[in-house]
Amino acid sequence: MPIETSIRIAAWPATDALLVAVPYDRDLAPDLAPGIADLPFPVAGLFAEYKAKGAAGEIIEVPVARGEDVGRVLLYGVGDGDPAALRKAGAAVVRRAKGRESLSVVLPAGEVAAFVEGVLLGAYTFRIGENRTTAVAEVEFAGAGVEEQVRRGEVLARAVALARDLANMPASVKTPIWLAERAGEHAGEHGVPVRVWDEEELRAEGFGGIVAVGQGSVHPPRLIQLSYEPADPDGRHVVLVGKGITFDSGGLSLKPTENMKTQKTDMAGGAVVIAVLGALRELGVRTRVTGLVAAAENMISGTAQRPSDVITHYGGRTVEVLNTDAEGRLVLADALAYADAELEPDAVVDIATLTGAITVALGRGVGAVYASDDDLAGDLVAAGGETGDPLWRMPLIEDYTPALESSVADLANVEQGSTYGAGSITAALFLREFAGKRPWAHLDIAGVGRSTVDEGIFTKGATGYGVRLLLSWLSR
Ligand code: BES
Ligand code: MN
Ligand code: ZN
Repeated sequence: MPIETSIRIAAWPATDALLVAVPYDRDLAPDLAPGIADLPFPVAGLFAEYKAKGAAGEIIEVPVARGEDVGRVLLYGVGDGDPAALRKAGAAVVRRAKGRESLSVVLPAGEVAAFVEGVLLGAYTFRIGENRTTAVAEVEFAGAGVEEQVRRGEVLARAVALARDLANMPASVKTPIWLAERAGEHAGEHGVPVRVWDEEELRAEGFGGIVAVGQGSVHPPRLIQLSYEPADPDGRHVVLVGKGITFDSGGLSLKPTENMKTQKTDMAGGAVVIAVLGALRELGVRTRVTGLVAAAENMISGTAQRPSDVITHYGGRTVEVLNTDAEGRLVLADALAYADAELEPDAVVDIATLTGAITVALGRGVGAVYASDDDLAGDLVAAGGETGDPLWRMPLIEDYTPALESSVADLANVEQGSTYGAGSITAALFLREFAGKRPWAHLDIAGVGRSTVDEGIFTKGATGYGVRLLLSWLSR
């Protein structure tokens, strides 16, 4: 379910509002709007009593009389007021208002869009069945000249929420066909045409990796292409490629239950691509963008691919499948090869929950970027830092390329043995073989794609990591 909170903009909060949030900074200087200024306690005494520091996420609640009713003023800290602090502050405010009909927020100074993002993402929930939503129904943002920023924050937050919704959906519903339908619907609403290859077309056109990964499932694979044409193009063309494994059982190289039960989110990269393509027009992006989502369900059955099978990818390269659980790179290889051969992009960026190994290296807070081009890597890292989707550049270590040698095919999909190790790096080296000579970057989001906590802007489950990063990069 998308964000259920609706928003509105006002000059100042109504004087009889029952729940009002007011910012204060590190000097403990609150921005008390007219009508709520008469707090029943002296502000300095209040801050002293609560040992307030002005940190982002800190909230002090003050009961106030509203005629016969009792209202509350939430004084919220904004820390140093940078976008990361404002995101955190916004999430803290909306979480404190859970279950309320309405909340009126005096906007902080600075990057209002980041604050609005925090409010809306902090209110995000995913629940199936009887609608026990606790999200605040309506938030009023009070400020002057803030329309554009509030709007931008809302577009970004709703795009992130869509990516979360798609990834959180159980795989019993979310088949490749379902994902293609959702992509078509969503993109259609935003003037972005969609083309979908079914399994026969995929086989006929040589997408051997997508076909092989999908062949064990009763739900056939799909390749989804979304084509954004800007009204006022800048002449650049970017291709985004998302891993769209709707469930990753591991295939015949079966995962243990503990590792399998999170794998409905193995299409998180594809969800990001769909969400990004739907937001480009509203954000006025001038670059032409093509999204590709390689969607398949990696299952076991009598028709599943076997360890030792050899597949032929788009463009003719052969790969020996030594581990059917290294399936992401197989579907991405086809899409990357197709983008290089047919789409003439100026840059290609793929995004994928590709390896458990990257979680060992970078943990759950920072995503990995590998790139064949320093400028592209630098731009993505910068965009990640600004938007709160932090990225760390990882090396494509040339000495490890023998890890992917096969005795029977052009490449093997995993290393036989563990001479080289470095599972996320060797996966990136595999993808590089299919990306061609154009600037290419690969984001491994296996660590950051899911959150284990319900806190701040995150809800347990899918995070939508990458949506804000890519939208910010494409909006430059
Ligand atoms: N989808 C997984 C990666 C993953 C693991 C994502 C944990 C999110 C959380 C991927 O398809 C996979 O199974 N990778 C293998 C690769 C190995 C077989 C070389 C892995 O990481 O173990
Ligand atoms: Mn796998
Ligand atoms: Zn996978």
